[in-house]
Amino acid sequence: MFDISNMSSKAMLEEQYKNTDNLRLRKGLHEKYSVNKVGFQRWMFEQYPFRTGMKVLELGSGRGELWNYYFDNAVLQGYDMEITLSDFSDGMVEHLQQTYTGRGMSVRKIDISAIPFACDTFDLIIANSMLYHVKDIDAALCEVRRVLKKDGWFYCATLGTNGMLQYLYRALDALGISCNHETDVSFTLQNGAQLLEKQFDKVERRDYEDALKIDEVADYVDYIYSMASMQGLERKYYDRLLDYFNSKKEDGYLYVPKEYGMFVAGKA
Ligand SMILES: C[S@@+](CC[C@H](N)C(=O)[O-])C[C@H]1O[C@@H](n2cnc3c(N)ncnc32)[C@H](O)[C@@H]1O
Repeated sequence: MFDISNMSSKAMLEEQYKNTDNLRLRKGLHEKYSVNKVGFQRWMFEQYPFRTGMKVLELGSGRGELWNYYFDNAVLQGYDMEITLSDFSDGMVEHLQQTYTGRGMSVRKIDISAIPFACDTFDLIIANSMLYHVKDIDAALCEVRRVLKKDGWFYCATLGTNGMLQYLYRALDALGISCNHETDVSFTLQNGAQLLEKQFDKVERRDYEDALKIDEVADYVDYIYSMASMQGLERKYYDRLLDYFNSKKEDGYLYVPKEYGMFVAGKA
């Protein structure tokens, strides 16, 4: 029996995000095998209500990939916005500084639970795939609300409870690899609206339809071993996982469900 790592454990987060390797590996799987070719990052980026002179803050930026779409768009670059990318991990901040400093963006080390800006500073705040790592979600959302302008918007992406994690738990159960998967994910598509409504007056959920269609199953097993929550999974199970997922292929492909989406929240 192994314990699914708690998604907000400090030691787990430090190890998982000490550099960009795990994130890069996981992004690679999505890029290669996603059925929806728009791509989750691009889908999100195209919905942000950018306008001239806006002040934008991204929390938990990770590798900052979202901003590739910004640099691809000459019109947006002409908007003269003040954009701050941030993360609480030194490794991510270093990567962001190397990639974005000098390109008209600021990079700061910021923990969402203590955002070092005055009240009512930002027109747009973005926090993608990171709220489920936060221990005190109410306090973090209260901080976001505090630094968001009255007519500003908060966009946050997350996962649902009927997606890749649950598919994996069913596989581990079927293989008799016992793990404690009772650990709740703190911020999901299912409970996110309720949590956001404590701080924001308007909350809307938007879903991104997608699945993985995989031919090289080893890529998926490598992905599993890179997951923050799977750090207790022993290497000795690698081949059994490989055989199991190969046996689940239909017409040469393994289909893995995904459930991703985002919330848009506003103050007034
Ligand atoms: C799964 S990654 C998502 C990265 C990026 N937003 C994306 O969608 O590709 C989660 C990121 O959140 C950061 N993070 C986790 N907890 C945080 C916190 N309390 N404050 C700020 N960043 C945090 C991690 O260091 C990591 O870079």
